[in-house]
Amino acid sequence: MQVIIAKDYEEASRLGADIIEKIVREKPDCTLGLATGSSPVGMYQELARRCKDEGLDFSKVSSVNLDEYVGLEPTHDQSYRYFMDDNLFNHINIDKAKTYVAKGIGDVDANLKEFNAMLDKTDIDVQVLGVGPDGHLGFNEPCETLYDGAHKETLDESTIDANMRFFASRDDVPRYAVTMGMGNIMRAKKLLMIVAGNKQDAMKKLLISDRIDPKCPCTFMRMHRDAVVILEKKLADEIGYKG
Ligand code: GLP
Repeated sequence: MQVIIAKDYEEASRLGADIIEKIVREKPDCTLGLATGSSPVGMYQELARRCKDEGLDFSKVSSVNLDEYVGLEPTHDQSYRYFMDDNLFNHINIDKAKTYVAKGIGDVDANLKEFNAMLDKTDIDVQVLGVGPDGHLGFNEPCETLYDGAHKETLDESTIDANMRFFASRDDVPRYAVTMGMGNIMRAKKLLMIVAGNKQDAMKKLLISDRIDPKCPCTFMRMHRDAVVILEKKLADEIGYKG
């Protein structure tokens, strides 16, 4: 696992964008695995700038997203489909018909069947990841056992607390989500995690301990052959990580 310490969030976002840009230039019809959350927003803005100013071409790129809340219409401003359109897809020349975000409304089992079928026929060239304060990846919450494929998760109370900042009240935060499983994530050719915010506990377990712990799903990144973690120097200093 490669760990890059960036001087600040802007640098982390630029370095993340460099990795995505290289893949898109080398393989114009690549598949990007994408993530929501505030951590990758700066990288998405930088990719949008490079598309507009530097001709970075997404016209042949496909994408698949990690997860979606159960119960939110795609037009809801906190749905992950809305997030992706608003933060990335509306600002680059990607064909939205080639972007996949799992459905959050309707029959959950049918939605998961479709999501798993989509994942089974897709090779993800790079999977972008954030991390929850409890170490979750996508919405794979800490547990005794983790899932291989896409499935429904009940959100942890700490995840509801962390995500309530985006909703009018805590009661408005959905209790369930559909998410890629850990197997889907680990099968991506490359993993790219951008870490921002209060993730000290998860980062201690990922970077300082050498345990693979299902109670901190991000630690599974250590087993991937081509995983990159980009974190800010401030966070590295806070947990005493020197590289
Ligand atoms: C949500 C998403 C995760 C994301 C996490 C962290 O829970 N399902 O994929 O990593 O938020 O978000 P942030 O980057 O805002 O801290």
